Amino acid sequence: MKNQFLRCTCVDMSVEGLGIARADKLVIFVKGMIKGEEADVKIIAEKKNYSIGIIDKLIKESPYRIKSACPIAYKCGGCDYRHIDYSYQLQLKKEVLINTFPEYKVNDILPCEDPFYYRNKVQIPVADHKMGFYRKFSNDIVEFNDCLIESKIANEMIRDLKSLLLNTAKEKYIRHILIKHGKGSGEVMLGFIVNDLSVDLNDICEEMVSKYPQIVSVILNLNDKKTNVILGDEEKVLYGRDFIYDDFAGIRVKVSLKSFYQVNHDQMIRLYEVARDLAEIDENKDVLDLYCGIGTISLYLSKYAKHVTGVEIVESAVRNAKDNAKLNGIENCDFVLADATKGMDPYLKEKDVVILDPPRKGVSKDLIASLKNNRIRKIVYVSCNPATLARDLELLKDTYRIGEIYPVDMFPYTIHTECVTVLDLK
Ligand SMILES: C[S@@+](CC[C@H](N)C(=O)[O-])C[C@H]1O[C@@H](n2cnc3c(N)ncnc32)[C@H](O)[C@@H]1O
Repeated sequence: MKNQFLRCTCVDMSVEGLGIARADKLVIFVKGMIKGEEADVKIIAEKKNYSIGIIDKLIKESPYRIKSACPIAYKCGGCDYRHIDYSYQLQLKKEVLINTFPEYKVNDILPCEDPFYYRNKVQIPVADHKMGFYRKFSNDIVEFNDCLIESKIANEMIRDLKSLLLNTAKEKYIRHILIKHGKGSGEVMLGFIVNDLSVDLNDICEEMVSKYPQIVSVILNLNDKKTNVILGDEEKVLYGRDFIYDDFAGIRVKVSLKSFYQVNHDQMIRLYEVARDLAEIDENKDVLDLYCGIGTISLYLSKYAKHVTGVEIVESAVRNAKDNAKLNGIENCDFVLADATKGMDPYLKEKDVVILDPPRKGVSKDLIASLKNNRIRKIVYVSCNPATLARDLELLKDTYRIGEIYPVDMFPYTIHTECVTVLDLK
């Protein structure tokens, strides 16, 4: 069967953004094929219950197929929906969510007004005289000139860094470049993740800072371990501050190199509006914001609530969160450095509303048990991974009435969707 050509029809899309095609009884996952399309497909791999194929010749084209404006769309692992019209991407994402949450109503996805150049953080590996993105499931670097979802200034800076760094004696010291851009403030941070802190990058730093006055922070971060984790613990400031400011919804925040910050500034505001509306907070409500990052949700909700406590495991993020409360003159927020997966009972006591915004792996069983034991009346769950959200809702539904799913498109052209839902104690 391998290397065979089959004419097939794409009947659905997988969660990973692949076309699910059928030829008689055979199921074939085809990259770049869109629901409704017919194509001659070459089988490139066979598994027990399905095959993997690539389009050899498109016979019937989807009306939603667009010509990709990105020359590396099918090489880099980023934009699985680059060949699909934006409004149809939203429809496909919604269909995936309807399949993921068959028991709950899934609302239309809140679209991103400008789905281009929206990412405010970019991490670029450097190796073998190349700087670019990893090819999916590989350590090969795919170079790019203009990534259509990274911020324009990051694209420009990377083009310059390529000519300043690659094929020089300094290249071998650099493992990654990390750029953060505050869309609200215009400030930029340039991070060099290096395997030796003594490397002299002052000339490159000076050149970049003089060309880009938006750069207010240049940081060396040491990572000499052979793991997939990008950032190490030790840092040295090469220029300016060890953080950038950003502004959103009338709030100013400090963001450090290691702190989590939502990658789509404008959709972050939409997301927080949805969470606020579902939380039904008023001045009598005591709120716990678990997995709070630099405190953005806490600070945003503080003007509606009596008090908000944020819990976060990354030290620099907690430091940022505390500074951010002071910076904005907010006195009804406090922040705790702690692991939200366990031992949360003392923090849950007497809380009226709990916000959950965990990483992709979702919430721990221990935390779910604590939420139930403490009879928390209202939980707002913000999730970047529908699969783990569905798993956690399954564990909570005996005690909670689960509301509708409100998706927000934080990541246009990729397969990812952020979802918010509210849970009320039965
Ligand atoms: C999806 S982010 C959400 C952050 C924040 N709510 C926001 O909107 O920017 C998840 C956060 O959880 C933090 N985190 C991961 N594991 C954690 C844990 N076990 N306990 C507490 N925080 C954790 C991460 O550092 C990150 O800041």
